[in-house]
Amino acid sequence: MHIHAYEKLWLALSIVLILALIGTVTYGAVGPGVAMVADTQPTVDATALDEDERFSEPRVEQVGEDEYEVYVVARQFGFQPDPIVVPANSTVTFQVTSADVIHGFEVAGTNANAMAVPGEVSEITVETDDPDEYGIVCNEYCGAGHHGMEGKFNVVSQSEFESGGDDE
Ligand code: CUA
Repeated sequence: MHIHAYEKLWLALSIVLILALIGTVTYGAVGPGVAMVADTQPTVDATALDEDERFSEPRVEQVGEDEYEVYVVARQFGFQPDPIVVPANSTVTFQVTSADVIHGFEVAGTNANAMAVPGEVSEITVETDDPDEYGIVCNEYCGAGHHGMEGKFNVVSQSEFESGGDDE
């Protein structure tokens, strides 16, 4: 009786250990990647981005008091919109996709970094503080023009944002 119970216990423990091992390995393999690129967004048809409500018009959209969504399309060899202009002291979520091949989307000098994958939407959120200008670079080799593939990310004052260059 007692022996039988111990056997059950050890069996259960070893299963737990095996699951924990698998969990650790899995987390090590994909965990950091998942943290960088949340693929919870619905997928998109990369060949029909002009019919997608998010990406037909790459843009900055205000979604809350100090919250903005930026719909970014990467394609050989540039980013849209360019420049991306957002106000200081706000929460900015980039939703990034590609119209052709895999690109990178990295705000140079920050840890904001995502992959632009055709058919998928990568999401990263940053907090802006003071007005500043950043470069956006493509960090995935994507063809002959890869090295020149860059954009601008401009954090401007609230008043400058409101009087904003080109309002659409
Ligand atoms: Cu786009 Cu490298």
